[in-house]
Amino acid sequence: LTNGLALTPQMGWNSWNFFACNINETVIKETADALISTGLAELGYDYVNIDDCWSSVTRNLKGDLVPDRKTFPSGIKALADYVHGKGLKLGIYSDAGVFTCQVRPGSIFHEHDDADLFASWGVDYLKYDNCYNLGIPPKKRYPPMRDALNETGHKIFYSICEWGVDDPALWAGKVGNSWRTTDDINDTWASMTTIADLNDKWASYAGPGGWNDPDMLEVGNGGMTYQEYRAHFSIWALAKLAVVDLRTTDSLGVQGRKVQVSGIDGCSQVWAGPLSGNRLAVALWNRCSKAANITASWEALGLESGIHVSVRDLWQHKVTNGDAVSSISAQVDSHALQLYILSPSTASYSVQ
Ligand code: DGJ
Repeated sequence: LTNGLALTPQMGWNSWNFFACNINETVIKETADALISTGLAELGYDYVNIDDCWSSVTRNLKGDLVPDRKTFPSGIKALADYVHGKGLKLGIYSDAGVFTCQVRPGSIFHEHDDADLFASWGVDYLKYDNCYNLGIPPKKRYPPMRDALNETGHKIFYSICEWGVDDPALWAGKVGNSWRTTDDINDTWASMTTIADLNDKWASYAGPGGWNDPDMLEVGNGGMTYQEYRAHFSIWALAKLAVVDLRTTDSLGVQGRKVQVSGIDGCSQVWAGPLSGNRLAVALWNRCSKAANITASWEALGLESGIHVSVRDLWQHKVTNGDAVSSISAQVDSHALQLYILSPSTASYSVQ
């Protein structure tokens, strides 16, 4: 969507995967504080996004959405002011149906009023869910909110959450700044790997202004091992965020993808994608049940044969191979992933 936003993918925090409906204004404020104190804000994680359950179960007599009086007594405007005071942005949530998934009022047929209300509160982001949708196709239900947000004159990131049901990559580029490509993630290896693969299918549709959304990170929620979470973070970075150097969001905005599979059921995998400055992000991902040696050849990576690169290991934070000429390989533990940036060490190369 060409609204001037999402030149790089959204980064930040969302309340759903950990808190679900157990949210309140204190949690949101403390999260904003934590984004600053942990240094995450400085790395670009600047959205503080409230998911479902912030609103009362009914609209007020004027027909407006109202924040739940018990959990958000100071209101959303006060929260937006607090978050903005820290240099961060506030996101809110609604639904392109008559109710949200947790049965709070939805915004279908109220697009203009709700968009105006969000804008008056100073909201910077809207996640727009897909429950209780009356069977009306997403292509019909999502554009009205885009137009309503646009007409507020405020810059509001528009996150389409129709769960990939109507192949949004094919149409949502003109509607939203991102679109979920899959059903909800959960905090398991099976869910995470399935979602990585489903999202990969749409790699070529992502770019500045509109991104594939494979749903949020579960890192730290407890259902996967340390190595599995590292793989989860790395693949989301490579495939979705392209923030692979973990300090700056890469400006090229090309989604990395699965480029080579081998082993039982294709469980030895290479994922790769180009970065700015003629660099290449490469992941060697062992999804097999045993340790394996994984090799990424220049051919699989789309590099000219004989080209020299230097290889930096992003988890070890060091250059591991000063001058690789035809392939890189590593012994990778089961469910682990090694992540590298390849930089041309002589003449520049071209990535196919
Ligand atoms: C479904 C969405 O896909 C989730 O991310 C979350 O927003 C829930 N609904 C909230 O009810």
